[in-house]
Amino acid sequence: MASSREQSSVVIIGGGVSGLALATFLQLSGVACVVLERCERAYVEVRQRAGVVEARGVRMLERWGLADRLLGGPVAHTIDYRVNGSSRVFKVMADDGSPGRFCTQQMLVNNLLRELIDVMQGDVRFGAADIGIHNDKNSRSRVTYTDANGTHVIDCDYIVGCDGNRGVSRASIPHGVLTKTSHEFGYAWLAALVEAPVIGDPIMAVSDHGFAAQLPRGPQRSRYYLQCALSDGPEDWPDERLWDEIRLRMGDSAIANARVHDKDFIPLRAVVHAPMQHENLFLAGDAAHLVPPTGAKGMNLALYDVDVLAQALVRAVKAGDRSQLDAYSATCLPHIWTYQEFSTWMTDTMHDAGDPTQHGKFRQAIARARLDTLFEAPAAAQLHAAFHRGMV
Ligand code: FAD
Ligand code: PHB
Repeated sequence: MASSREQSSVVIIGGGVSGLALATFLQLSGVACVVLERCERAYVEVRQRAGVVEARGVRMLERWGLADRLLGGPVAHTIDYRVNGSSRVFKVMADDGSPGRFCTQQMLVNNLLRELIDVMQGDVRFGAADIGIHNDKNSRSRVTYTDANGTHVIDCDYIVGCDGNRGVSRASIPHGVLTKTSHEFGYAWLAALVEAPVIGDPIMAVSDHGFAAQLPRGPQRSRYYLQCALSDGPEDWPDERLWDEIRLRMGDSAIANARVHDKDFIPLRAVVHAPMQHENLFLAGDAAHLVPPTGAKGMNLALYDVDVLAQALVRAVKAGDRSQLDAYSATCLPHIWTYQEFSTWMTDTMHDAGDPTQHGKFRQAIARARLDTLFEAPAAAQLHAAFHRGMV
């Protein structure tokens, strides 16, 4: 088997939204970097991921001069919020009151792949396996990996772990260096991909039977999320029960059964690993933190991290000034905790408002009061402001 040894300023592990966005920012800034992604490009292009770029992310991409190339045009983005079947449709506006530029995570990843690889000739290596990280402050950093051609070594100044919650980067940091602060919400989401489109607007619903949501996945499919017990598995949710619960929680007896492609069980949890750096290794996105999905913020947090990190890396590589890099974790953590607070508030509200066995009648009544305040607000802008409190 052949082997190679080469140099780069930065090696990025993981080619999801955080790794690809970081590499694009560095490439634009003239900083040499290599992305090592475990999966093949064709898989990354079709992999199901959730999320929409929020107004803050749009402004950030405008600052990098990338918004027109990566995002779609202004689109009205509406959500149908239901409480016990009673429906209110809200227009989600950008925080400056404009319609916002709608872009899903999957669209963003595909646009990043095109810009970075096909237009800017960026170096993204798919199918990279057995990644080894050598991050010792007394010597230059090194990343090793294997692919179909053999074993490779890249000597580098900085390594960035963008490889998600189960990647190798965070796991390479010696025990005791990072502190993990986490919260388990005590319930899970059953996520079911079904052969039925969203008719009308995406739906977020609470009912006396628990939380449910329906989000679009292309013209023919959608994903339903249903609050369920942590211990639930596929055997607890045969298709008949799934559709009965969907009809009940959505308050719509006309919903017809359709083909269910897969069922996944996602425990709701919040996690922050700190600091987000060790020696010359930096963590970004899900590798550093998880937010519960109810707030729809995970991808947006990942974009925030890599914006801060890219600017710091450019300064370190080009001007020899490490001060921003050394402050990376301290710069990001307050923002991350603001997003955790929002996501926790949203998660508690939407889930406590449902199944009263979860936290009891009192918490359910409080959650319904919160939702009443939101839904009775005279303008959608107020709902939006509440959903984004402290987040501009
Ligand atoms: P990932 O997208 O996980 O990318 C990590 C990459 O690293 C992958 O390409 C992976 O193949 C690669 N990798 C992993 N291990 C290795 C390895 N050993 N070597 C090399 N490569 C490796 N966020 C929102 O903003 N809005 C939403 O509405 C939203 N909804 C969500 C709904 C659900 C049900 C869930 C679970 C999440 C949701 N999120 C949402 C969160 C969002 O999807 C994540 O926060 C986002 O994908 C994080 O991006 P990332 O690049 O850090 O990680
Ligand atoms: C999704 O599209 O899967 C999605 C959207 C918003 C959420 C969670 C998930 O809050």
